[in-house]
Amino acid sequence: MTSDGKDAVVGLALEASGLCKTYHLPHKDVPVLRGASIEVRNGELVAITGRSGAGKSTLLHVLGALDRPEAGEVRIGGRPVYSIGEAARTRLRATGIGFVFQAYHLMPEMDIVENIMLPAMAEGGVSRRAMRERAVSLLELVGLAARAAHTPIELSGGEQQRVAIARALMNDPGLVLADEPTGNLDRATGAQLLDLLFGIVRDGGRAMVIVTHDPEVAARCDRRLVLADGLLSPA
Ligand SMILES: Nc1ncnc2c1ncn2[C@@H]1O[C@H](COP(=O)(O)OP(=O)(O)OP(=O)(O)O)[C@@H](O)[C@H]1O
Ligand SMILES: [Mg+2]
Repeated sequence: MTSDGKDAVVGLALEASGLCKTYHLPHKDVPVLRGASIEVRNGELVAITGRSGAGKSTLLHVLGALDRPEAGEVRIGGRPVYSIGEAARTRLRATGIGFVFQAYHLMPEMDIVENIMLPAMAEGGVSRRAMRERAVSLLELVGLAARAAHTPIELSGGEQQRVAIARALMNDPGLVLADEPTGNLDRATGAQLLDLLFGIVRDGGRAMVIVTHDPEVAARCDRRLVLADGLLSPA
């Protein structure tokens, strides 16, 4: 039994149902999610497509414990995300989920090893030396070991996104959420980045939800969903 008294559903990396989210602007309400539901099994890769403005990024933020929905609940590895306290949610976000955003979101004043270490520093409990060793091994995994002492601004966009992938893996999450991770890259660089991302996620037995406009990327996933009118349905 989990602490909220409900059995964790074995084998589900992510579970969300009835998600509703409306943005309230001064003169109008913009309903974006209207009851969206999703289940992702451990190790499963799911693509989400949908027109621009359909709410894909909003959905990913809600799924990733970053933005509370008005209705519905999200479970990561069987644990509820929004019916727990802020500190527990922060911990769940740090340990259970790896984010890869379209615009890499790296800290410009830190070198790339420190950037990769960040999620573990938020988590605490591990020596700085152990964190650094793991960060360096992840940097090797994404093929950037030679750039350890560089700051993000000294790297190309594709290299920065590789650092962001390494950062997403720092706490060994079971679930990776990726929002248009190649949206700012040229096609060839984007294809290389996706090969790397898909390889790492599959080799690690992790689950992934990836938002993409690209049918070829969606085709590489185990399942495809489309977000339209605030609801998710099979593509
Ligand atoms: N902070 C906000 N305040 C008000 N409205 C917002 C906010 N963020 C998003 N929206 C609106 O919510 C809708 C969904 O936005 P969202 O960014 O989730 O779409 P998207 O599917 O990710 O689009 P894209 O494919 O262009 O990235 C849009 O109409 C957008 O204008
Ligand atoms: Mg978006």
